[in-house]
Amino acid sequence: MSSNNLLSNTRVVRASYANKSHVTKAQFRVETHRDIDLGSVKPGEVILRNLYLSLDPYVRLTLDETGANVPAAWRQLNVPFYGLGIAEVVASGVVKYPVGALVSVNTGYEQYTRVSGLDDPKTQTDIRMLPAHARDESRGVPLSNYISALGMPGLTAYAGLKVLGVQSGKTIFVGSAAGGVGQLVGQLAKIQGLTVIGSAGTDEKVACLVEKQHFDGAFNYKTENIREALTRLAPQGIDYYYDTVGGETLDIMLDLINEKGKILSVGMISQENGEEAYPIRNLRLIASKGVSILGFIYWHHLEYFENGELDATLRPLLERKEIYYREEVFEGIENIPEHFVNMLEGKYAGKVIIKIADL
Ligand SMILES: NC(=O)c1ccc[n+]([C@@H]2O[C@H](COP(=O)([O-])OP(=O)(O)OC[C@H]3O[C@@H](n4cnc5c(N)ncnc54)[C@H](OP(=O)(O)O)[C@@H]3O)[C@@H](O)[C@H]2O)c1
Repeated sequence: MSSNNLLSNTRVVRASYANKSHVTKAQFRVETHRDIDLGSVKPGEVILRNLYLSLDPYVRLTLDETGANVPAAWRQLNVPFYGLGIAEVVASGVVKYPVGALVSVNTGYEQYTRVSGLDDPKTQTDIRMLPAHARDESRGVPLSNYISALGMPGLTAYAGLKVLGVQSGKTIFVGSAAGGVGQLVGQLAKIQGLTVIGSAGTDEKVACLVEKQHFDGAFNYKTENIREALTRLAPQGIDYYYDTVGGETLDIMLDLINEKGKILSVGMISQENGEEAYPIRNLRLIASKGVSILGFIYWHHLEYFENGELDATLRPLLERKEIYYREEVFEGIENIPEHFVNMLEGKYAGKVIIKIADL
């Protein structure tokens, strides 16, 4: 094969582990290879042209050499990071995924990705066809929403509220409320008739939650005492805590939550970037108040993708602007290291996405 037929592929690889430190750009290396031959696709394989890549906090877990429930292959050094993306099939050995199809997929932080083993039912791949209307941006729903509000973060918000079993008239507190998941949790809970309180790390994010995203109250957890703010904003008490933060906030909520309250443990962003684990002191209150703590992981709820329920429920809300979903979309694969570090440090609002190529 002459190298003239090979496409250039820029990728972002894991250069070193961060382990117990805050992530820096040193953990990433950007490199370009000329290694993609579209004619080389075999039965059971597709080659993808990545269009959008999602920068998700869970990718931080792959920068620890050990720990967390992450497949070993996702921690390897000198290979591209795995992350959620939207891609176009540009070469195919699988009837189900024809050339030109748009898919949502766990892909590499690179321009082109080869996915193999799609003809083997034992291979677990996270690839799914997007609905035909995903291409239609004319109603104000950008394609990038299929890795945010209509993708994994959306599923996490939607299914998480179902698992919590929220009831109209009750009060919910949402941690990291301006983030990819939290902003949707709050807006969906509001539509379902709850009183919604959120916390975020800048005054601008707090103002947006209240003024544009229909939260009843919000506070800046970096400048206001968390306990005082929650007591001020929810004097009636809090019935549900959608927890993406963990640490001190979780400890305070164990104390503040109403009797028979429910906590959904979704993430621990305050504990995920090399921090010492916060010593939770209020666990005894789980029994004395009859509080339930429920664990949640989105891949137990993929049926809402497969049966179209997530798309059918959320897309009309986005089209009618009943939900205001914030994304920050940056261009250029080579900028991923900087944006990933900034995302974890709260410098952006909403879901952080890198645009790799035009459709
Ligand atoms: N279980 C599941 O299935 C599942 C699915 C999706 C996500 N998650 C988890 O849920 C959490 C949120 O995910 P996401 O995608 O919506 O991310 P996200 O909230 O958009 O995460 C980034 C934001 O986290 C906030 N943050 C950073 N350090 C913090 C700290 N010490 N305390 C409080 N907030 C902090 C920052 O906003 P501020 O400016 O507000 O600080 C930053 O903008 C993550 O832990 C993620 O791993 C779990």
